[in-house]
Amino acid sequence: MRRYLAAGNWKLNMGPAEAVTLARKISMGVLGMDLRGEVLVCPPFVSIPAVADVLEDSVVHCGAQTCANDAAGAHTGEVAASMLAEVGCSHVIVAHSERRTDQRESDDDFVAKIEQVHDAGLIAVFCYGEQLEDRKAGRAADVVRAHLEGVLPRLTRAKADTLVLAYEPVWAIGTGETATPDQAQEIHALSREITAGLLGPGVADRMRILYGGSVKPDNAEELFSMEDIDGGLVGGASLKADDFLGIIRGAQAAAGA
Ligand code: 13P
Repeated sequence: MRRYLAAGNWKLNMGPAEAVTLARKISMGVLGMDLRGEVLVCPPFVSIPAVADVLEDSVVHCGAQTCANDAAGAHTGEVAASMLAEVGCSHVIVAHSERRTDQRESDDDFVAKIEQVHDAGLIAVFCYGEQLEDRKAGRAADVVRAHLEGVLPRLTRAKADTLVLAYEPVWAIGTGETATPDQAQEIHALSREITAGLLGPGVADRMRILYGGSVKPDNAEELFSMEDIDGGLVGGASLKADDFLGIIRGAQAAAGA
């Protein structure tokens, strides 16, 4: 049984003051829980130092939502993975569908970012998943395969071994429409099979594959109980402490706690 990861992606929400309040509530909420996995929150860049400070003695980790392709240099507006490590981050989300669309990031960017994240000693959470029209046209598996094949074989084995995958069907993000546990499990099992082919069965078996897309307290346990679903990447419901804590409880229940 893999340890779950319950990760909150705060997106463009929570400036430093609000972020500190939310982080405090979450860290208080997990106090006394015998955690069978890990909990992560990913605030916007400017809120990271304050949140990392609040979480310093907590089991809750702090991460970032993206990072630069480069370690340093003339790249206005960018933030390097090593800087994120310096201010207390442990994880960095890479390739979120919103960045694929809004910033037109490509496989080359994702490979560069994952390399940077790992060189800084952090863990990358690599997102992938199909759009609604892909699913309607029966192309979900093809898109997932293309997303994984475009990046995984280009990583060194050591880098691939610490990677976390996050399957996020775009039609389920922020829509309230969740993939059914069976729909998600089918893609997660396929992702593990593709990963085994690309990186070997050992890496694939150890790899945590999160599900993202309208995860809520009332569907978390059922989703996370599926064999190949090792936790969640949560957007909207991670912005309310009670909801995120409910999702963590769902993960705990799925882990047999
Ligand atoms: P929602 O949980 O709001 O659907 O967002 C999912 C997501 O994009 C997490 O990265």
